Amino acid sequence: MDNKTNRTSPEYRFPQGFWWGSAASGPQTEGAADQDGRKPSIWDYWYSIEPNCFHNDVGPENTSNFYHMFKEDIQLMKETGHTSFRTSIQWSRLIPDGVGDVNEKAVTFYNQVIDELLANDIEPFMNLYHFDMPMCMQEKGGWESREVIEAYVNYAATCFRLFGDRVKHWFTFNEPIVPVEASYLYDLHYPNVVDFKRGATVAHHTIVAHAKAVEAFKKLNVDGKIGIILNLTPSYPRSQDAADVKAAHIADLIFNRSFLDPVTKGEYPKDLIEILKDRELLPIVEPGDLAVIRDNPIDILGVNYYQPRRVKAKEQSVPAGNPFMPEHLFDPYIMPGRKINPHRGWEICEEVIYDIMMDIRDNYGNLPFFISENGMGVEGEEKFRNEAGFIEDDYRIEFIQEHLKWVHKGLQEGANCLGYHLWTFIDNWSWTNAYKNRYGLVEVDLQNNYKRTIKKSGRWYKTLAENNGFTVG
Ligand code: BG6
Repeated sequence: MDNKTNRTSPEYRFPQGFWWGSAASGPQTEGAADQDGRKPSIWDYWYSIEPNCFHNDVGPENTSNFYHMFKEDIQLMKETGHTSFRTSIQWSRLIPDGVGDVNEKAVTFYNQVIDELLANDIEPFMNLYHFDMPMCMQEKGGWESREVIEAYVNYAATCFRLFGDRVKHWFTFNEPIVPVEASYLYDLHYPNVVDFKRGATVAHHTIVAHAKAVEAFKKLNVDGKIGIILNLTPSYPRSQDAADVKAAHIADLIFNRSFLDPVTKGEYPKDLIEILKDRELLPIVEPGDLAVIRDNPIDILGVNYYQPRRVKAKEQSVPAGNPFMPEHLFDPYIMPGRKINPHRGWEICEEVIYDIMMDIRDNYGNLPFFISENGMGVEGEEKFRNEAGFIEDDYRIEFIQEHLKWVHKGLQEGANCLGYHLWTFIDNWSWTNAYKNRYGLVEVDLQNNYKRTIKKSGRWYKTLAENNGFTVG
């Protein structure tokens, strides 16, 4: 690695071929929800019955109109320095009934997107599932159903066959723990179930679906790499007191290692199994489940990093009879003096990204990985518009730079990090937050035919990619 420094201006140069780009997802950008044969996902359905659950009642019908504007968007990706871009295929667009016929219009659309990216020297990274269960599959029980696992594996294999000649980096799921937490534990997303045991079943079935998709990928001999994208939230104890340390360990098991260990090491952490067993919360494990998990480790890991998790030992006991929640085993800890993004309520702590890198280096066999999401959502960005008409988001540039300094340090210390993807390329529809917090390098104007305008961060990102790094000062 080229790592020149001079006395006044530290330089942060990254390895040759380091991926610069961003991440997005089909349901958050494509729009055209009911066009060309697509059928509803849980998001379309939920919005149809409870629009008030979404910020300003804005739903997923049109999102950022990528379906119709992808050519323009890919030019903007070029203008913002992308060498790679991750999005997701919508199952509900490609196979509208969940199983059975492939929608030829969807095949044409995804082919065009992939070809256009490649024609512009932007490598397509493709994810298969970003929280977007087709409604017809949810009606069969969603991830609680074994039938849905098989349908997903068939969908994944269809994607590999259709697009595997050109897509070289595949991901089975984005943040698979989010549907477990949000849909089965914390009452945040449809189907709004609050039941840890059902959540544990959803988690196990997702991991089986993932492993079976990796198996299908290998059987089909696809020329490429396959992995999964996990949101890692390292757990830090309030103090080194044994009870605080234990609390942090438990939080880490539940929220990180529950997915990280099976997809990399092929097995669940033994102490996590003990916790669930003691409380009779273990999901049903069918013959073959553990073998398929064991035999199909990932080639590459995507790490989404936004915030750490700080915890302390439980201070008050939970009244008997309350249905189990992870927070029965620890309390959240608000660290005094923490830096926070007030729009999202998330702590900003840049060096945690380095801790993740060291953890993967030391405890996960120095597996190849990349930062697959990191970013800053800000509400009301219009107030930063300058006279030239674009948003001067210096806070976003600083946010990226401060994280990259730690990525750079991790690389110098031997971490196998292959790239950095910002969340996100263009402001997009973000689930129940809709368009509240804007994350893009490019602004979208929903009142003005989805007009796109590159923000200051987008221009800066191009120089970052072109220089393969940056200089401070
Ligand atoms: C990431 C998800 O965790 O967070 C994205 O992968 C999401 O899908 C992003 O849009 C930002 O979320 P929010 O809730 O801050 O808008």
